[in-house]
Amino acid sequence: MTELLEVEGLTVKFESAAHHLELVRDASFEIGTGEVVAMVGESGSGKSITARAILGLLRRNHRMTVEGNARLAGRELLALAEAEMREVRGRRVSMIFQDPVGALDPVVSIGAQVLEAVRRRRSGTRPEQRRRVIELLASVGITDPELRAKQFPHEVSGGMCQRALIAIALAGSPELLIADEPTTALDVTVQAQVLDLLKRLRDERQMSVLLITHDMGVAAQTADRVLIMYAGSLVEQGPTADIFGHPCHPYTGGLISAVPRVDAPRSRRLVAIPGSVPEAADRPAGCAFHPRCPLADDRCATAMPGPRRLGNQIAACHRAEEARDSQVHRWQAGPGGGGAGRLPEERAAL
Ligand SMILES: Nc1ncnc2c1ncn2[C@@H]1O[C@H](COP(=O)(O)OP(=O)(O)O)[C@@H](O)[C@H]1O
Ligand SMILES: [Mg+2]
Repeated sequence: MTELLEVEGLTVKFESAAHHLELVRDASFEIGTGEVVAMVGESGSGKSITARAILGLLRRNHRMTVEGNARLAGRELLALAEAEMREVRGRRVSMIFQDPVGALDPVVSIGAQVLEAVRRRRSGTRPEQRRRVIELLASVGITDPELRAKQFPHEVSGGMCQRALIAIALAGSPELLIADEPTTALDVTVQAQVLDLLKRLRDERQMSVLLITHDMGVAAQTADRVLIMYAGSLVEQGPTADIFGHPCHPYTGGLISAVPRVDAPRSRRLVAIPGSVPEAADRPAGCAFHPRCPLADDRCATAMPGPRRLGNQIAACHRAEEARDSQVHRWQAGPGGGGAGRLPEERAAL
């Protein structure tokens, strides 16, 4: 697979009178053409900051500096002038966010909002642009697009609003769609429909997707590859089946155990990871996860582990081999392999 986005050593620093913080530390990952990559981690892990840094959206914040590289089809994004970056956003990379209803203008019809996006990105006559709006609405699975185009956001469901936002994001035919918690505000059934839509768009357009979520269940349903983020660092990455089958970082195993399963025995309770993600100013020495980690030893409290390759995975854990061998999940790949599998059946106690 050819790489569309290559991120190398991405670091986001935040400076204030009281603090010099690294909100994101040395993150490196790739997204291939037509690949769906999920970035997973609890709230406060640094997922949104990573996405915003890549898209040049942190530039107006004078307290933040971005270091490292982010190349889109070989072109360095972090060095682009603001005008060039604006061209990239919208035409080559689009982003959608968590709250679909809030992201739309309440007093403008859905069709007019999609039309504005089309006009910004494409020439053509008025009738051509209007046809394009209807095509876009239909392509994101909105039935009766002519009628829906005339409606206002409050007249349709949250799922419909998210579809409309995806239509807006597609107006410039981007190669990469960054979706930041796109289904968090939606109920489970609608969530599954939106995730299916993202996969279909990938198939039809060979579009790449970076799907940001706090929910490993969403990653399992949707992604080809998974990136796990904790306290500003990528702690593990690899193909979805490997990540779920034998996670090499105890944090990954903890996230998997927190996913509810419909087919699990009733007696099996969800195991949440005790504690919470430390704020950037309060990160402990050594591995940032060690106070919550069941495998932590003395070394973990003093030395920060660097990323290491184990088979198809890369994990930043001193005890990655033990973690892998003690966390074997019965993963069953579903039809289509890749990420389209079922969730892991059980987890050996750490
Ligand atoms: N504008 C900002 N200024 C300072 N710190 C921020 C800002 N936005 C986010 N942070 C901090 O950066 C960390 C990561 O935030 P974020 O990327 O939003 O996490 P996530 O998307 O994984 O929930 C958090 O500790 C948060 O407090
Ligand atoms: Mg976020």
